Amino acid sequence: MIQALSYDDVLLVPQYSDIDSRTEIDISTDLGKNVKLTLPIIASPMDTITGARMATGMSVAGAVGVVHRYNTPTAQREHVAQFLLETRGDDLIGAAIGVNGDYLERARLLFNAGVGFFCVDVAHGHHALVRHALQVLRKTFGHNIHIMVGNVATLEGVNDLADWGADSVRCNIGGGSICSTRIQTGHGLPGLQTIFECAKTDRDVKIIADGGIKNSGDMVKALAAGADAVMVGSLLSGTDETPGPLERSPDGTQWKSYRGMASKEAQVEWRGKYSSFEGVATRVPHRGPVAAVLEDIERGIRSGLSYSGARTIAELQAKARFVRQTTSGLSESRTHILSRSW
Ligand code: XMP
Repeated sequence: MIQALSYDDVLLVPQYSDIDSRTEIDISTDLGKNVKLTLPIIASPMDTITGARMATGMSVAGAVGVVHRYNTPTAQREHVAQFLLETRGDDLIGAAIGVNGDYLERARLLFNAGVGFFCVDVAHGHHALVRHALQVLRKTFGHNIHIMVGNVATLEGVNDLADWGADSVRCNIGGGSICSTRIQTGHGLPGLQTIFECAKTDRDVKIIADGGIKNSGDMVKALAAGADAVMVGSLLSGTDETPGPLERSPDGTQWKSYRGMASKEAQVEWRGKYSSFEGVATRVPHRGPVAAVLEDIERGIRSGLSYSGARTIAELQAKARFVRQTTSGLSESRTHILSRSW
């Protein structure tokens, strides 16, 4: 049995650097077929994370948002249309689709509205239904549009999706902050190990580290392990740009909702019923504009590359030296004065 590691189990060893300023560092990523980001972050297709406003906030920062699919095709198209007005009209936005029901009609509407890429968004992406949907999508839209697909947790999953027509693959099953898949089903693989495994692919496909990324340090670890970009939900939750109203507590604290798309609450709202629920619903403190959150993350990523002496993500991947840390190493890594008893 292999030992599977996650983000907190490892650290990157600091290395010689001749980088004078973090502005020398280029953290752009090219996912292929016009999906180019100057900040390698993708906002999750979740109904409490990405609608038109989040996609706009992401685009302004050089990142990208994937509009969620938990609405009617027309309502989802409206998000795309609103984004293309609010922005220059040719800025990048992705849109999620499923693999059954109205997915093709939805894809046609989104394509005609000017979406930059599709994200085939299912919980278990290494599946015959995904293979069929990819065949249909490629037949209908050709090979020029980028198709992101997921999620998977294995190299076989990445290779099969690439062979079936995926340009990029979301990797990680059940590692997200709001996920309960691993508890509910006993299946999954720790997030960073997933990236180590998936990045071994010899196919021409990009790796998206999705879920379980708690801070910019985890992003640097994911990129160093071989991811081309990261997808995040919780790190963007609670910002002004997330869909949904602000809730105010009697003491004046403000909150926004954040929930797994397989949570009971999300399923009941979108399908009128629930089956197996593999996520939770919660609320998070209101955190203001997403621009400020992204700026902090970007500074952290740039600083991370400089500690490895790397000017680009490719250089980081070539130079990265991971070590395993013990639980006392992890305690030391945290700002431990905050938990000290005086
Ligand atoms: P973070 O950790 O960034 O994770 O909040 C976001 C990612 O979690 C996935 N996702 C789910 N996974 N049950 C799951 O097992 C769910 O209900 C659920 N909703 C979202 C998804 O990959 C997302 O990008």
